[in-house]
Amino acid sequence: MLKLRTLNLNKTKVDTLIAPVCEDANLFERGDINRLIARAQKLEKFEGKPSEVVTLYAPAGLKVSRVILFGVGPKDKIDPETFRAMAGRAVKHCIQIKRPKALVAVPEISFQRCDEAMAIEAVLEGAYLANHLFDHYKKDKEHQPLHEIAFLVAPAQQKKYRSLPLKVTTICRATLLAREWVNLAPNDKQPVQLARDIVRQAYRYGLKTTVLDEKALKRLKFGAMLAVAEGSRNRPRLVLLHHRVPKATQTVALVGKGVTFDSGGINLKPSGGIADMKLDMSGAAAVAAAMLAIAQLKPKVSVVGALPLVENMPSGNAARPGDIITSYKGKTVEIGNTDAEGRLILADTMAYVIKKYKPHTLIDMATLTGACVVALGEKIAGVFTKDETLSKAIINAGEKVFERCWPMPLPEDYKDQLKSDFADINNMGNTRWGGAITAALFLSEFVDDTRWAHIDIAGPAYTKKEAPYCRPGGTGFGVRLLCSLLQEMR
Ligand code: BES
Ligand code: ZN
Ligand code: ZN
Repeated sequence: MLKLRTLNLNKTKVDTLIAPVCEDANLFERGDINRLIARAQKLEKFEGKPSEVVTLYAPAGLKVSRVILFGVGPKDKIDPETFRAMAGRAVKHCIQIKRPKALVAVPEISFQRCDEAMAIEAVLEGAYLANHLFDHYKKDKEHQPLHEIAFLVAPAQQKKYRSLPLKVTTICRATLLAREWVNLAPNDKQPVQLARDIVRQAYRYGLKTTVLDEKALKRLKFGAMLAVAEGSRNRPRLVLLHHRVPKATQTVALVGKGVTFDSGGINLKPSGGIADMKLDMSGAAAVAAAMLAIAQLKPKVSVVGALPLVENMPSGNAARPGDIITSYKGKTVEIGNTDAEGRLILADTMAYVIKKYKPHTLIDMATLTGACVVALGEKIAGVFTKDETLSKAIINAGEKVFERCWPMPLPEDYKDQLKSDFADINNMGNTRWGGAITAALFLSEFVDDTRWAHIDIAGPAYTKKEAPYCRPGGTGFGVRLLCSLLQEMR
């Protein structure tokens, strides 16, 4: 659906042409587009400031019905995110005015923080990600995504970047799928249903899949995960997805928190905090979707994705605060708070994955703590790891795709806060402070000396606000990050 084109605008009919306009530089070498921009600037006060938009109809001499120009601000502030946002705004605009096809002109110059390759990729990504509506539950499907988005490039670029549309499509399609899973109502994605849906997708791309049901989890002694599942009549599942590369020297394991609804359990969340808790499987959605992309991108490493899926509910069967359970690893855990359920399912899953697959690197992704949102806000994820190289690799991968990550500490002495009078460890810290850190330290007790990083995505997994290439709801945060990271690994 994404295509690179080298049209002559005098000769080929175009319905809607989109072009970015910079405040203080020409982004194009092509005379036709530069003349259009000059004309628009003569007719209207249009300087190319961010958020400015102007439409020209049937410009003389060209076979173009409509040209929509989008301001992108001054040249020295331009980075790839500028182009993702521009392309996203443009595609959303076309959806709004019901044009089914668009041709987006790709800038032809380089910038301080954005070379030609980065610019093209960013334009394609922003366009693809914005071309999505979640109308599953709407009777009236008034707006439709575009059928085709083409990109106007020079002939040399068309050749040089010919494999780019497929790569961007693979990664962004997975991102949209993750968004859809997150947006799905919690009554439509209970663990059994979600596991089935993930497996169905995984088959399509040739991943080896295994699903452990409750019986298997009991036999394997997943005591912590089962304690969380206890309160819900919807039974848990553990989904394992394996991309196996026979010659690979390394296996990377990805674990995603999959709480399909987090009510808090017996420590029931207050009404304000509970509303969006269908988002609590965003880590699992990101890992599952990334695995589908990985099966197509074929990185050099073997990758295992593990998704513990449970629903955290209060009931007569639910785990109580004060309960002491034995985890998969053998450590006993006092449940100080049933709302600290994510770390319980992750602890068992990570210990199991380490034992079964002996991964060289393990990364877990989870909407783990409200405290991480307090620390870093709604757009930045926290990265917890003792491995400097891994930390830098994650943060760099995130920068490339604008899924921002920030390093957080794992101070040994804070482990005191997790002491239990009766069990080996408590699942909740005994002070109000540093909740994102104590959660990460809890997880660290279950990974031994495996090279491990924890990414807390509680902030960026979900948005209440419309963004340039994402609508309110799940953001798919983590899919592009993991793809970008794994493509660098060998
Ligand atoms: N799922 C929540 C964390 C969360 C909060 C995600 C806000 C997204 C947005 C998690 O299970 C939770 O409830 N954490 C508690 C831990 C506490 C009880 C130790 C929290 O953050 O308050
Ligand atoms: Zn919780
Ligand atoms: Zn949770």
